[in-house]
Amino acid sequence: MADMTHIPVLVAPILEAFRTTAGETFLDATVGSGGHSRAILAEFPNAKLWAIDRDGEALERSGHVLPADRVTFARENFCRLDRLSQKTFDGILLDLGVSSDQLDASARGFSFRLDGPLDMRMDQSQGKTAAQFLEEATHGELVRAIRDWGEEPHWRRAVATIEEFRGTEKLQRTAAFADLMHRVLPAAYRTKIDSVTRVFQGIRIAVNGELDALEEALPKAFSALKKGGTLAVISFHSLEDRIVKRYFREWGGLAVDRSDGRYADERAVRGEVLTAKPITPTSEEQIRNPRSRSAKLRLFRRTEGGA
Ligand SMILES: C[S@@+](CC[C@H](N)C(=O)[O-])C[C@H]1O[C@@H](n2cnc3c(N)ncnc32)[C@H](O)[C@@H]1O
Repeated sequence: MADMTHIPVLVAPILEAFRTTAGETFLDATVGSGGHSRAILAEFPNAKLWAIDRDGEALERSGHVLPADRVTFARENFCRLDRLSQKTFDGILLDLGVSSDQLDASARGFSFRLDGPLDMRMDQSQGKTAAQFLEEATHGELVRAIRDWGEEPHWRRAVATIEEFRGTEKLQRTAAFADLMHRVLPAAYRTKIDSVTRVFQGIRIAVNGELDALEEALPKAFSALKKGGTLAVISFHSLEDRIVKRYFREWGGLAVDRSDGRYADERAVRGEVLTAKPITPTSEEQIRNPRSRSAKLRLFRRTEGGA
């Protein structure tokens, strides 16, 4: 479709990892605009694919580019992937975060570069909008969003300003809110990632419960892997990557962190961590697709148990 802007990231290493599974059934748990799914279906002509997303518009978009006879679509949060009627897969992909198509739709309120209602929900059928979150969140919830998830060094100022401007139109639309944040967050401290980008990111993670969904989804994804099946996860945030790394190391029988004092024979080895370090986009991919810059891909293959 001409109006689609999302370019899938790290396609080649994902196909490479899925190729060795010689599988027939895949789950794209974040189908988005369908870029990865399309590549998987082209690479494996006999494959069937399950495509899920919590965003109804994404499912509609991907429905236009993916062949209906090979794809089963479901609107679902990936933390409930165990509810799908297909229970096991040869390859599962989670490409986290939001797509360029979501970011570029002003009505969705994800981007401060476009004016729109401060919404930010991936699933618009439920939950609080970002504007409601800013109006109603406790102090602790705001701190967690902006300090912990946005990793904004000037979180105190951002939180105090949000609390001060409650009940005004400043917390209702992306442009007004971004302008407010630009005014209170010191430009001199703006590093590689702009402060306002960080604040928006933290609020988006809170509004969508993104880290909780990932924590809940990964063990379910592991359970849904066939023996020999591969799980691929692309993250864009260090907190997401840390969660993925810990689960993969646990399943691979490796120490999950420095405080893990278990002996090697106390750890169950249920598969192989295929990426000791995450795979990142080549400089060529980063130039072609600047959004790919912070992407990190981790791969895990199940070798024990499973169907
Ligand atoms: C980075 S985009 C995926 C783009 C896709 N791989 C492509 O090539 O077009 C992430 C997608 O995952 C969806 N998503 C994020 N968290 C989700 C969750 N917990 N459950 C289901 N979908 C989710 C978002 O709505 C978005 O459409």
